[in-house]
Amino acid sequence: MNPRVAVVLGSGLGAFADTLENATVTPYSDIPGWPPSTAIGHAGKLVVGSVTGTPVAVLAGRAHLYEGYTAQQSAFGIRHLRKMGVESLVLTNAAGGVNPKFGPGHLVLISDHINLLGQNPLTGPNDDSLGPRFPDMTEAYSKSYREIACAAGREIGLDLPEGVYAAVPGPNYETPAEIRYMRAIGADLVGMSTVPETIAANHMGMKVLGISCVTNAAAGVLDQKLHHAEVLEVGERMKDTLIELLRRVIPRLQ
Ligand code: HPA
Repeated sequence: MNPRVAVVLGSGLGAFADTLENATVTPYSDIPGWPPSTAIGHAGKLVVGSVTGTPVAVLAGRAHLYEGYTAQQSAFGIRHLRKMGVESLVLTNAAGGVNPKFGPGHLVLISDHINLLGQNPLTGPNDDSLGPRFPDMTEAYSKSYREIACAAGREIGLDLPEGVYAAVPGPNYETPAEIRYMRAIGADLVGMSTVPETIAANHMGMKVLGISCVTNAAAGVLDQKLHHAEVLEVGERMKDTLIELLRRVIPRLQ
């Protein structure tokens, strides 16, 4: 059966792909046109399998702007999933906590985003067969999906707050002044992914659930430097909780 639900796994969160039952793995390099992922902590494969009987497609590895890809290329995998019949999309990422309430180890549901990438996957001629020229983004992250995730979180003693995700191109982590700016414009989280995928998914009428794994306090929040190794390490520590949450949420996404 073709999966109706798909999950995109962020940095250091690839372990979920290994928990699928009856999995078939396709390396991105076997799919014509797929931008290869080069980031450390990203596997670069499409895994189709099931979660407690629900068919699911998983993208382990995504194309980021900091690798040199365009926003259009970042959205390639999402367009591929839509062609496969996927209607519900779970986007996970590692993020910095801009809001001091969100520290390392917190899972946060994305309620909305701010696109600071300076790029958009829908730039250029519109493919009317995919979606409208000027798509609505008033509920880019489905409210009902957030409620489902919240309820599933409660079952495992997990409080899931909501926050606004700001996307930046990277690859450097932000300056403290940039983080103060992001806080001032209403961001709670910062990261280098997810937004092109969310835009492309909404354009095609897919519903999106966004989950940020806060791996670090954003620059300047604490008096300490940021390291990619820390991001991967915290992601690694959070993976069991994220997997448990995903396993409960996926079968309920309609
Ligand atoms: N900034 C941007 N992207 C990130 C961060 C951060 O602090 N942590 C994880 N991804």
